[in-house]
Amino acid sequence: MTSLFEVMPAETAVDTPVRKLTVNVNGKQETLKVEPRLLLAHMIRQALGLTGTHVGCDTTNCGACTVLFDGAPVKSCTMFAVQADGHDITTVEGLASASELDPIQEGFKDEHGLQCGFCTPGMMLSAKALLTENPNPTEDEVRWALSGNLCRCTGYQNIVKAVLLAAESLQHQEASKDEGETL
Ligand code: FES
Ligand code: FES
Repeated sequence: MTSLFEVMPAETAVDTPVRKLTVNVNGKQETLKVEPRLLLAHMIRQALGLTGTHVGCDTTNCGACTVLFDGAPVKSCTMFAVQADGHDITTVEGLASASELDPIQEGFKDEHGLQCGFCTPGMMLSAKALLTENPNPTEDEVRWALSGNLCRCTGYQNIVKAVLLAAESLQHQEASKDEGETL
């Protein structure tokens, strides 16, 4: 079990209140002991070592810390780790399979939807939630879904194109699956 005592020096950690929690992260069950005040973003990065979840502001503005919480995008700097007890979390590390990228990742690669990459994990997870709920979004719907994620580099144009390309490719995949089933 991982224990994470944030800020407290090791010698005082013994008196720090802790809560035990179990959370499913990218399909893997994790049991941890954490301080009740620990933010979900810090648990993901420091206790689980999943540093694809970025922290850009800590004040719910930038969206760099976005993860999926039971499939819905949340800003993990705005939740306590203990609120995730018994829930499913997906981080950017959970998007690709062992052998292939998620169509959203392919879309960002093909459309050059990033420059420095800092906002990219959060953008991808917001896009993932959108395409799960709405596989054929309009450009306006993509822009609305990403409106909680800030990018200081790209001007957004290629990010929107990347998500639309991913939607197209997911639709092709579904169509080929349907064709396969009717043969
Ligand atoms: S770090 Fe969470 S919104 Fe910016
Ligand atoms: S690519 Fe740099 S912040 Fe978005």
